[in-house]
Amino acid sequence: MANICSTSSSSSSSINNVLFLLLAVLLVFFINTEALKPKVTRLEFYMHDIVSGPNQTAVRVAPTEPVNFTSPDPIAASFGSLSVLDNPLTATPDPKSPLLGRAQGIYAMSSQHEEFSLLMTLTYVMVSGPYNGSTFSVVGRNPVMEDVREMPIVGGTGTFRLARGYCLAQTHSLNEMNAVIRYNVTLIHYY
Ligand SMILES: *[C@@H]1O[C@H](CO)[C@@H](O)[C@H](O)[C@H]1NC(C)=O
Ligand SMILES: *[C@@H]1O[C@H](CO)[C@@H](O)[C@H](O)[C@H]1NC(C)=O
Ligand SMILES: *[C@@H]1O[C@H](CO)[C@@H](O)[C@H](O)[C@H]1NC(C)=O
Ligand SMILES: *[C@@H]1O[C@H](CO)[C@@H](O)[C@H](O)[C@H]1NC(C)=O
Repeated sequence: MANICSTSSSSSSSINNVLFLLLAVLLVFFINTEALKPKVTRLEFYMHDIVSGPNQTAVRVAPTEPVNFTSPDPIAASFGSLSVLDNPLTATPDPKSPLLGRAQGIYAMSSQHEEFSLLMTLTYVMVSGPYNGSTFSVVGRNPVMEDVREMPIVGGTGTFRLARGYCLAQTHSLNEMNAVIRYNVTLIHYY
């Protein structure tokens, strides 16, 4: 009798254990899927790429002599040039409009034939608003003479940790070689 009682109580407690474990697993699963639910964020801003004048933001570091755009093949002549930049990102095309962030990094003329094309390796850091301090990184090809250029977003930090996405860049205005570029950015992230 004592044996039967003890057997039945131990089997009901092992059923309880199984149920408890199942609940715990479900709870952890629920919390994890909540945390990893992807969020989509869209950003719009204007980047100021100022390559000459008093407020220069992009500096050609190699070779240091300017590209000869009147040479028979300016694309080949510009191939291999490398610039380091720290470009402001503003809310409107007006450079005095609110500063949203900065694009910092390197671009290089990486096409020898047919069209001007840059390899972009840039980090975009937000310096105001809800994403202040968060960054996302762009690595990709930028055929600068095309109307709209799409570039991949390969990662990020802060709110944009684990981000992926893409940006569409469109030249808004060009004064000499100083450009204002409109960016539409789509980010998928989890934080
Ligand atoms: C350079 O920046 C200063 C300070 O923001 C501004 O007053 C000036 O107008 C700018 N110059 C040009 C050529 O944009
Ligand atoms: C630029 O290229 C053109 C055509 O080849 C040449 O006549 C001119 O001297 C070059 N200018 C410079 C500054 O090298
Ligand atoms: C952005 O974050 C930095 C560092 O935390 C802080 O110093 C700054 O005041 C913030 N700027 C805005 C506009 O919130
Ligand atoms: C960027 O977004 C705006 C709307 O916010 C739209 O008018 C514009 O066409 C978009 N640019 C590109 C290149 O898709």
